[in-house]
Amino acid sequence: MDILDAIESRRSIKTFSDRPVSDEAIRQLLSMAVLAPNHRMTEPWRFYVLGPKARAAYGAALGARKAKRVDDEEAAAAVIAKVEQSHRDLPAMMAVSMTLDENPEIREEDYAATYMAIQNLCLAACAMGLGTHVKSGAVMDDPRARAAVGVADHERIVATIHMGEPAEVPTPKERKDAADFTTWVP
Ligand SMILES: Cc1cc2nc3c(=O)[nH]c(=O)nc-3n(C[C@H](O)[C@H](O)[C@H](O)COP(=O)(O)O)c2cc1C
Repeated sequence: MDILDAIESRRSIKTFSDRPVSDEAIRQLLSMAVLAPNHRMTEPWRFYVLGPKARAAYGAALGARKAKRVDDEEAAAAVIAKVEQSHRDLPAMMAVSMTLDENPEIREEDYAATYMAIQNLCLAACAMGLGTHVKSGAVMDDPRARAAVGVADHERIVATIHMGEPAEVPTPKERKDAADFTTWVP
């Protein structure tokens, strides 16, 4: 698959087959991630490949946040258990964090570079027949989620990525034409 096909066919994959993702495949994806452009070569990205226990703990942290919206205690416990299990069952998951430079300009560049690394990884996964789903949200700053990942104090989690062989590939979301957002400045 060439890069243009990977860009066109990539989707956020929500359901995965039971097929495991090998450590070798994950290492290959990470080796593509770290080739992203990076001003000043700060290499701000950090990757935490989560095993079943860590995934479940992250899921429990997310579930606990979702359960706050549920009044009934039993229903709330069921929400937590469901989200925990769904994370444990993922074929693969990683958390991506970035180091936090004191200089706000560098910090912003580092955030951008880290997302470029994430996109490299997602496109490489696509080319390897793997699906990805980038996830974010306030849970990333939740102490329980941070503890599940084991992220270092001076790092910020900027995404989690679910990975696996797609069980179902969603139809493309409708997008406007690039021309709608483009101004050719003479
Ligand atoms: C920075 C970022 C954060 C995202 N966070 C979430 C998320 O928390 N939950 C989710 O379901 N999808 C999340 N997504 C995926 C988007 O919802 C998805 O890319 C969008 O719906 C377009 O679908 P596509 O990726 O299949 O083209 C995120 C994507 C990006 C780039």
